[in-house]
Amino acid sequence: MTGRLIEVRGLCAGYGSVSAIVDIDLELDSGEMVALLGANGAGKTTTLNTIAGVIRQTEGVVTMFGRRETRSVSRRARDGLALLPEQRAVFMGLTVRENLIMGHGGIDYSLALFPELEGKLALRAGLISGGEQQMLALARTLAARPRAILADELSLGLAPRIVSRLFGVLSAAAADGAGVIIVEQHPRTALKWADRAYVMRRGRIEVSGASSDLLERMDDITSLYL
Ligand SMILES: Nc1ncnc2c1ncn2[C@@H]1O[C@H](COP(=O)(O)OP(=O)(O)O)[C@@H](O)[C@H]1O
Ligand SMILES: [Mg+2]
Repeated sequence: MTGRLIEVRGLCAGYGSVSAIVDIDLELDSGEMVALLGANGAGKTTTLNTIAGVIRQTEGVVTMFGRRETRSVSRRARDGLALLPEQRAVFMGLTVRENLIMGHGGIDYSLALFPELEGKLALRAGLISGGEQQMLALARTLAARPRAILADELSLGLAPRIVSRLFGVLSAAAADGAGVIIVEQHPRTALKWADRAYVMRRGRIEVSGASSDLLERMDDITSLYL
């Protein structure tokens, strides 16, 4: 599939009567990696979760894979949307192999993406390193061959070398035709990988543009929004 995967217009959502995101417009096309940046509490996670259907939108329109989307999380997932949540999406009590089997794809495909996991197959996921857990979460997710991937703070607490591995694999998925949104608190890391980015502040998108343009204005953007 080529072209537009996700289009969001005027999206609002919140928690109880408190609004957390306001009037969000964004797009995701096949083949691109887009960063969603912003300080802690800016509304990045709420935006991803609302697009995925985890949080109900109060206003606005989400169009996904060509249809106006109001259905459940699992329906959206079945159509090809993958959400990698802030909390690592692995079953800590199951082995690495069992986790991969539950990814609905082949173990072979997952191990081709992350050969690092090969020697860990028999270990419980709770016993491997944080970086390996995140590789496992990503391997499981990608084995289902999603069309659009929403990755929330994948890099949290991980060494730069591991972060490069994770973003490198996501970047390859985008080169293969998927669309990827990465949420990041470290703007320079994200902009190194992403084609373009949106910067959020207090629930709104304040700036958007190509990564190269945003990197040139990074000092201003950091002091104003991050
Ligand atoms: N479960 C929740 N209940 C109430 N308020 C929440 C909840 N999760 C987030 N918020 C609030 O919504 C706003 C946006 O949060 P969030 O989307 O998590 O931001 P980010 O991911 O950018 O750090 C913040 O003001 C936060 O305090
Ligand atoms: Mg968050």
